[in-house]
Amino acid sequence: MPRRRNRALTVLIRVLALGTAALVLLVAGIGTLAWNVTTVDTVGEVDFDTELAIPPLAESTVEDGRRVFELTAQEGSTQIDSERVSTWGFNGDYLGPTLRAERGEEVEVRFTNSLPEATTVHWHGMHLPPKMDGGPHQMVPAGEEWTPTWTIDQPAATLWYHPHPHGETMDHVSRGLAGMFILDDPAERALGLPSEYGVDDLPVIVTDPSARRGEVDTNAERGGGVLVNGTEGPYAEVTDELVRLRLLNGSAMRVYNFQLDDGSPLVQIAGDGGLLPEPHETSSVRLSPGERAEVLVRMEPGETRTLRSVAPELGQNFLSERFSGGSDRFDVLQLRAADRLDAAPVVPAELRPDAAEHAGDEADVTRTREFHLAGRSINGAQMRMDHADEVVTLGNTEVWEVRNTGGEPHTFHVHDVQFHVLSVDGREPGPELSGLKDTIFLEDGKEYRLLMTFTDYADPTMPYMYHCHLLRHEDQGMMGQFVVVEEGQDPAVGGHAH
Ligand code: C2O
Ligand code: CU
Ligand code: CU
Repeated sequence: MPRRRNRALTVLIRVLALGTAALVLLVAGIGTLAWNVTTVDTVGEVDFDTELAIPPLAESTVEDGRRVFELTAQEGSTQIDSERVSTWGFNGDYLGPTLRAERGEEVEVRFTNSLPEATTVHWHGMHLPPKMDGGPHQMVPAGEEWTPTWTIDQPAATLWYHPHPHGETMDHVSRGLAGMFILDDPAERALGLPSEYGVDDLPVIVTDPSARRGEVDTNAERGGGVLVNGTEGPYAEVTDELVRLRLLNGSAMRVYNFQLDDGSPLVQIAGDGGLLPEPHETSSVRLSPGERAEVLVRMEPGETRTLRSVAPELGQNFLSERFSGGSDRFDVLQLRAADRLDAAPVVPAELRPDAAEHAGDEADVTRTREFHLAGRSINGAQMRMDHADEVVTLGNTEVWEVRNTGGEPHTFHVHDVQFHVLSVDGREPGPELSGLKDTIFLEDGKEYRLLMTFTDYADPTMPYMYHCHLLRHEDQGMMGQFVVVEEGQDPAVGGHAH
């Protein structure tokens, strides 16, 4: 009897062991599949057979000393993957024209919403009154118009514009609603940098393919290849020794790490808010969604070079890194130099030595605020349209200490101001952060100290936003509001005082 029971037990154990082995294999298989599916690599697979589209410069008229632009958000379609897909654009089918204005100029934008639903237009990086900001409080219903006006009062920079309807930003931006807003000033012009738009000064708006399907779902967040100015597999003919690329990460969720395929350097001359103090020669430029960088590329006659995005260092733990696109690579843009090139201007050794001054003087700091980003909250709170999370006194210089404690990638973007990065985890930031910024990538656990000054526009009734610029996170509520008030004024957001 005991014998037989033993045999039964042995059989049972074997069955269990087999079952466990099968389960382990299944789990490992699914894990491996997920692991591979999460990685995208288009290096060497892009044909570069379409000339890079250059967004047209927006036409403008000058009325009563005001530069007036017209923008219409509209439905359209775009040819991608030999397929006609529905997209949205400003004054066209996909993306929008490049707006351009001079420091000191008064501008007016006559915006018409021809879409079937409400949207907004936000001027990302712009210093302007909160009612003109185009955030979630400036909704423009379908078929209606909105005409913001303000005076350009900040250094030359590559800014951009995009919708900001609460909960819908990722959808609207990914469908194609985005464009560049270039600001000029005399000091920048005097440097003699490449500045012939579309010739030796190229807008490079990089978006991901969730847009091209006109749909946004989790799988489409990061898949396939990338578009540049809406062009798939783009090349640009270069006729100058030195080309300036205005890189804008217009993607919803993806972080890029731009590099040249032959290892030659990129010379970064500007960040989000304008010129760096001096040129910064680097092998790669990391840009998270919403960030911009201007780089110079030196070309030899007849050569071809490819701008790529290689695996970005995301500063996350191993798994989070992998599942956030930390292993992905893309061929982005091919540059083809003509056999004879126009001589390059000399790149000045100094660009804007006093760039940081715009953000204020650390000695004047009157207040330090802390922001912790985790989950889909900032300081444990989610976006509330009728609540002022922070109240700032006009004219104050502050330090905002920002930390990502969530174990996954986040970024931090502040409306209205350009900030200067004082330190990253107690250390002096790298030269790529030496200029003005409005959006910064947050590596896990590190503390970023941002210096900023709130000048010009007090309005206790209308808030500005700060938020994670990973658009899905923003839509899920990872956003807060601040109002700028005159000394002693009470905020009254949403029609009631706090
Ligand atoms: Cu680019 Cu609040 O946005
Ligand atoms: Cu913004
Ligand atoms: Cu985030």
